[in-house]
Amino acid sequence: MESQTETHRKQKKWLRLLLFPLPLQGHVIPMLQLANLLYSKGFSITIIHTCFISSPKYPSKNPHFTFHSIPNGLSKSECSNADNLVSFISLLNANCAEPFRDCLVKLLSDVSDEPVAGLISDSTWKFTDSIAKSLQLPRFVLRTTNISSFLALAALPLLQEKGYLPKQESQEEKPVIELPPLKVKDIPVFKTQDQEGLHQTIAALVEQTKSCTGVIWNSFEELEHGSLTDFRYNFRVPIFPIGPLHKYFPVPSTSLLSQDQSAISWLNKQAPNSVIYVSFGSVASIEKSEFVEIAWGLANSEQPFLWVVRPGSVIGSEWLEPLPKGFMEEIKERGHVVKWAPQQEVLAHTAVGGFWTHSGWNSTLESFCEGVPMICHPCFGDQRVNARYVSDVWRIGVHLENKVDRFEIAKVVRKLLVEAEGHEIRDRILQFKKMANQSTQQQGSSYRSLESLVSQILSSQSQGKL
Ligand code: UDX
Repeated sequence: MESQTETHRKQKKWLRLLLFPLPLQGHVIPMLQLANLLYSKGFSITIIHTCFISSPKYPSKNPHFTFHSIPNGLSKSECSNADNLVSFISLLNANCAEPFRDCLVKLLSDVSDEPVAGLISDSTWKFTDSIAKSLQLPRFVLRTTNISSFLALAALPLLQEKGYLPKQESQEEKPVIELPPLKVKDIPVFKTQDQEGLHQTIAALVEQTKSCTGVIWNSFEELEHGSLTDFRYNFRVPIFPIGPLHKYFPVPSTSLLSQDQSAISWLNKQAPNSVIYVSFGSVASIEKSEFVEIAWGLANSEQPFLWVVRPGSVIGSEWLEPLPKGFMEEIKERGHVVKWAPQQEVLAHTAVGGFWTHSGWNSTLESFCEGVPMICHPCFGDQRVNARYVSDVWRIGVHLENKVDRFEIAKVVRKLLVEAEGHEIRDRILQFKKMANQSTQQQGSSYRSLESLVSQILSSQSQGKL
């Protein structure tokens, strides 16, 4: 029988979807990947965006989408303070509600355009539920983290009630009985002075997720079967685990920063599986003392390394100033440092044998899909949960759990790249690579979920169901 998607495409009955990402790299990337995927299913796409993605390269790289920008009311310094995530998100939410509503009203009243089938919003936007409801618009939510870490985040009020929070150093190794296999140190907390703002953000996140027409996950059934069952039981909304989003087909790079291609020419000169790739994503920052330990740890490991040092990511420095004097000269060709790399290409390169990551969800999925074993060094939030799952549940990486120390780093890098344990981890992650790649192929679980998502969008639209 012909699928609803095929009928939709054949009839050329174009419908428009409005997508509203949170303006942070780790959130924009999966939203644009989703946009490309839904475009391939026959929908027209409008991206409503605010600061950070006003870069002209977005529209020019995606001429098949329509872009609408809304003001965010943030000063330049507030915009560059995105590493204080909690207050950044609170400010954005306070400032963007009215401009978003105005934009939506305008888009919905444009009769010359295709009918709007629905809104897909990042779940961190608190106001989209009430606005979409008032305009009779079906609203789907994209969760850019995985299901296990979302459940841990949603459980924070309970964990506080049970006395796990605020965390105490002496309790860090204690298991969290309610959320196995997490330990107290894995609870997804954020550094902030604004605890009240954090609680409100989490409560809104849970409510936004419960009240939507469907939740889209950048994850897949086989990986998180248990957590998906828990989510289904507790949230009772339709869910669509359709990840890994970047695996359906190649799409133009969705990176906000320009990627230094010298990373690839340097990798071309290295032996297979010999290089440790180091990157801590787009938000995490580290202390100068940690940066120096990382530098010496990489040097002492005697393995080639490709290291992404994002400008501003070492607290109090512009870029590489805290590196010990003469460090790069001593390392010579054995190390290469860039400000931002073409990460997916790097992970797919045969020279890369390991990924030292902050365990952001996009990085973790990308590593999975290329079969690259990980060293997990989480910094905040969901990264702690991801790291625990990578090391203890899926057993495809090593957890760097203690204080950042040059001797420990050198030991762990060598363990992953040259020792027998590293080879075993590589064998295991290759199974995950296969599973992840199969899920997005026809008849795979994510592919089937994607078909259901398209059907749900079409039926919500035709029934005006909210
Ligand atoms: C944020 C949160 O920090 C993370 O915890 C959450 O899971 C997602 O949102 P971020 O810290 O940026 O994300 O990490 P991650 O999710 O790993 O995303 C980083 C993205 O930037 C990846 O898609 C990666 O390919 C890309 N990247 C990273 C590059 O293109 N080049 C680089 O040099 C580094």
